[in-house]
Amino acid sequence: MKVAVLGAAGGIGQALSLLLKNSLPAGSELSLYDVAPVVPGVAVDLSHIPTAVAVKGFGKDDLDAALSGCDVVLIPAGMPRKPGMDRADLFNVNASIIQTLAEGIVKNCPKAMVGVITNPVNGTVPIVAEVFKKAGTYDPARVFGVTTLDVIRAETFVAELKGLDVSQVKVPVIGGHSGTTILPLLSQVQGATFSDEEIAALTTRIQNAGTEVVEAKAGGGSATLSMGAAAARFCLSLVKGLQGEDVIEYAYVEGNGEDAQFFAQPVRLGKNGVEELLSYGELSAFEQKAKDDMLATLNKDIQEGVDFMNK
Ligand code: NAD
Ligand code: LMR
Repeated sequence: MKVAVLGAAGGIGQALSLLLKNSLPAGSELSLYDVAPVVPGVAVDLSHIPTAVAVKGFGKDDLDAALSGCDVVLIPAGMPRKPGMDRADLFNVNASIIQTLAEGIVKNCPKAMVGVITNPVNGTVPIVAEVFKKAGTYDPARVFGVTTLDVIRAETFVAELKGLDVSQVKVPVIGGHSGTTILPLLSQVQGATFSDEEIAALTTRIQNAGTEVVEAKAGGGSATLSMGAAAARFCLSLVKGLQGEDVIEYAYVEGNGEDAQFFAQPVRLGKNGVEELLSYGELSAFEQKAKDDMLATLNKDIQEGVDFMNK
């Protein structure tokens, strides 16, 4: 497996690359790309860890070489939030970064699985899709917004609240990746029941968990370590799928458009990326209303990404 991390010298990029160096299958290659001059050093640093994963660093002018022949490309490149900002405030600066990187993917590894981490995910994923469409090589089964952080947060918070073994807790999270578009389906959690007050408070906490980190870091950025863990988990699931295993993950994908053109939902991963779009099941009245209420925001975020590529 050849896996590229674009934005590899950043907070997420370094954590993610470390985890992948330690967990990709033996014989894999890790291709680290960043515009920051420290990236060759990050690669040398990681290369001293004794695992059978080769690491190479690529600087700003070497995007083509970094992407050549990649099976999976993860994109945590771009600016993070500061306190007081919404993810949508990042669109203007991050949209063109995503466009450039997606154009590099189209040129060098058009069949790769692409996991977009850069915010605002609700709008950056449509940009990647539009870049592929313009080249005539779009396969919606291979383009993902990484929403795994919402899932792992939801699992952590539920386990803490209910005193459960976190390794056994599963919480579906659907929709998008910002504010109210993040919709945890607490009604589907097995082995726990919640009062109406708990559901309201927990839903809000999961939706605002990114802001919780941004405020705690007080101007020093947003979630990097938990996001590194989330992206590593998602990447390993993509790799297992490519190796022929059936794996189920939640991700923000272009599905059947029932709710919105792009929507985070459960998918069965395999050799061709999304092998099957799975149903997210029945919603409680609270969840149904929350979904109905947030779709206008999600659709607006998606349209911003589509319009950026068609102006
Ligand atoms: P960071 O500033 O620490 O790192 C970003 C890196 O991107 C830097 O090393 C920078 O040099 C690099 N970069 C900038 N332009 C580039 C380009 N054109 N090509 C390659 N690299 C480029 O930021 P971070 O904390 O790692 O966050 C990165 C992004 O991930 C932000 O947009 C943030 O909002 C987002 N994020 C998403 C999630 C999620 O759940 N999807 C979670 C956390 C953060
Ligand atoms: C997160 O959920 O932590 C990320 O999207 C970063 C952010 O800006 O909140």
